[in-house]
Amino acid sequence: MSFPQSRPRRLRRLPLLRKMMQETVLSVENLIYPMFVTHGKGIRNPIASMPNIYQLSIDHLVKEAQEVNRLGIPAVLLFGIPKKKDERGSEAYAPNGIIQQAVKAIKDRLPHLIVITDVCLCEYTSHGHCGVVKDGQVLNDPTLELLAREAVSHARAGADLVAPSDMMDGRVKAIRTALDREGFEMTPILSYAVKYASSFYGPFRDAAGSTPQFGDRKSYQMDPPNVREALQEVALDIEEGADIVMVKPALPYLDVIYRIRTGFNLPVAAYHVSGEYAMIKAAAQLKWLEEERAMIETLTSIKRAGADLILTYFAKDAARVLARS
Ligand code: PBG
Repeated sequence: MSFPQSRPRRLRRLPLLRKMMQETVLSVENLIYPMFVTHGKGIRNPIASMPNIYQLSIDHLVKEAQEVNRLGIPAVLLFGIPKKKDERGSEAYAPNGIIQQAVKAIKDRLPHLIVITDVCLCEYTSHGHCGVVKDGQVLNDPTLELLAREAVSHARAGADLVAPSDMMDGRVKAIRTALDREGFEMTPILSYAVKYASSFYGPFRDAAGSTPQFGDRKSYQMDPPNVREALQEVALDIEEGADIVMVKPALPYLDVIYRIRTGFNLPVAAYHVSGEYAMIKAAAQLKWLEEERAMIETLTSIKRAGADLILTYFAKDAARVLARS
């Protein structure tokens, strides 16, 4: 049938009718809130390029986690800022490292809140790379053992899920094997399976102090033009034991999310990263965009593309909007 019998506008006429016809529904259960934790007490350092996001000491982190919990957001993702960095990122797997302390503190007070830890070395290494460096190269295999130690140490501190973000080959298998050996066979791995070497991580590197001191991450993170390679990365991670696969960033890679959603059956997560957050915030500050609408439209598009879970610095704001809609 065609016009005038067919009139798609009929179903757009009334607000409730539009709501009934919504094909994609963003819900608070889909959201994960990333947080940055630092040593000390009473610290709440703003991050210039990420309005409303702070580096928090553990006392403030726990308060913020309580708010996240009150808003109905089921999970947080933790990034640690160590006291001291060294060549091998020792604090990443120190029993009393910042993440290990933070996880314990949150789980003590909020046992039901899901705590996910980012497993990577770049925040902890003096050179700022995600692996062991020798002669200016980021070595793959020697890094695996450190990542496995880090993941086990997070699980031991009480992390509910571990999320490796380094992009070394074989790290999911190394982490799965180590977790199983240490009695953490029920700890899921949320793998940053498809992580692009993206310009959109800029603000995060300010927040986490993880800018590489030489070169870039292009020898381990993916090249933005590639999607077949993304499918291969996902296939490998699933084979190695990933429980959830993630695409990162989100908005410039909606096609990748869609291809993974249709090609595989594991839950898919998408990371709406720091630069994506900063873009909307900056445009809103200039009054060039309506922040709330841009935020919901963006997060809904990520879900529509096929993401089950969305990691976003907007999680708290979105939860507030969703609670009144
Ligand atoms: C660490 C890591 C990064 C992000 C998450 N984990 C930065 C990077 O790879 O440089 C980026 C998150 C964001 O931009 O919000 N490897």
